[in-house]
Amino acid sequence: EAAEKGGFEHFMLKEIYEQPKALRDTMTSRLDAAAKTIGFPELNWTAEELREINKIFIVACGTAYHAGIVGKYYLEQLARVPVEVDIASEFRYRDPLVDGNSLTIVISQSGETSDTLAALREAKRLGSRTLAVTNVVGSSIAREADQVVYTYAGPEIAVASTKAYTTQLLAMLMLAIYVGRLRGSMSAEREQELVRGLTFVPEQIHKMLENVDQIKVFAREYGSSEDAFFLGRSLDYAVALEGALKLKEISYIHAEAYAAGELKHGTLALIVSGVPVIVLATQMDVYDKTVSNLQEVKAREAVVIAIGFEGDTSLEKYADHVIYIPRTDKYLAPLMAVLPLQLLAYYAALTRGCDVDKPRNLAKSVTVE
Ligand code: AGP
Repeated sequence: EAAEKGGFEHFMLKEIYEQPKALRDTMTSRLDAAAKTIGFPELNWTAEELREINKIFIVACGTAYHAGIVGKYYLEQLARVPVEVDIASEFRYRDPLVDGNSLTIVISQSGETSDTLAALREAKRLGSRTLAVTNVVGSSIAREADQVVYTYAGPEIAVASTKAYTTQLLAMLMLAIYVGRLRGSMSAEREQELVRGLTFVPEQIHKMLENVDQIKVFAREYGSSEDAFFLGRSLDYAVALEGALKLKEISYIHAEAYAAGELKHGTLALIVSGVPVIVLATQMDVYDKTVSNLQEVKAREAVVIAIGFEGDTSLEKYADHVIYIPRTDKYLAPLMAVLPLQLLAYYAALTRGCDVDKPRNLAKSVTVE
């Protein structure tokens, strides 16, 4: 097992460090770096068929569901198709309004999650077109969906999903760009801009992973907390959800993510002196509003760790600590903003002496209902 871990103490850490490669492998066959366009040679839907789709359902569990929430922002904003995101165990029993003009995208690392498979079957039964985004070639979900987009994260052993998540985000972004172009809702310039940005991401993540000392310090400092909160707006909110899940599942710290604008509607009551609040502030169109929420929690004496773009030193005025990520396009920010959250969870779990790769009560693949 030590050999399989390739010198890392845990599979989770190894898999966090494999993200640059996983992303590169997932983008390579779909990206024409010279022309700066995205293509999916494996998909055989015509532009006509894609234009007929009037609603997309994204269905998944856990981390894959969180990737689906990011996917909703991508598909709605870039491809201009209405999207609903469902937890698979809800979708399969809620009599969804799916029909022949719907596309149901199921996301699953393992391709074997029982609820996701059942949701896929339900979508098919209702006449929806189906697409699987999965990491395991030949898995049940891959075999049963009409079309498959593979993520090439390589085997993920740790129960806590990391590299599968970032490759799912990438797959959803590339799909949104592709569908957006075929449906005529995205300009060639915008596509080129995003593709150019994407080509830098693996190297940018690689660099981020070379310098994690600050995160180790925060994990030691706040690892004994019993609660933590994650706040963000827009795509930052979607990433916050994943950050909270990571922390919960491996460190057993009670963690919740909230859309920052929801604070006043109840959560603010829980913000007391010393409670760690991680605020993501990478989405510039809602930046001022996020900063004002940050100030609200700070006024209640929470310890605020902000995550923002390099050079955004104004965050230092409001937050106790700032973790910087490379400046990038708003749609690419989730790929990088989740990294400190994965590492924070990992090092907090270490500090607390938890079994990082095999957290209590959890299985890697949930093949029973
Ligand atoms: C994430 O860290 C999980 N352990 C879990 O939420 C997982 O993402 C979920 O069970 C879905 O699995 P799948 O992607 O294999 O379908």
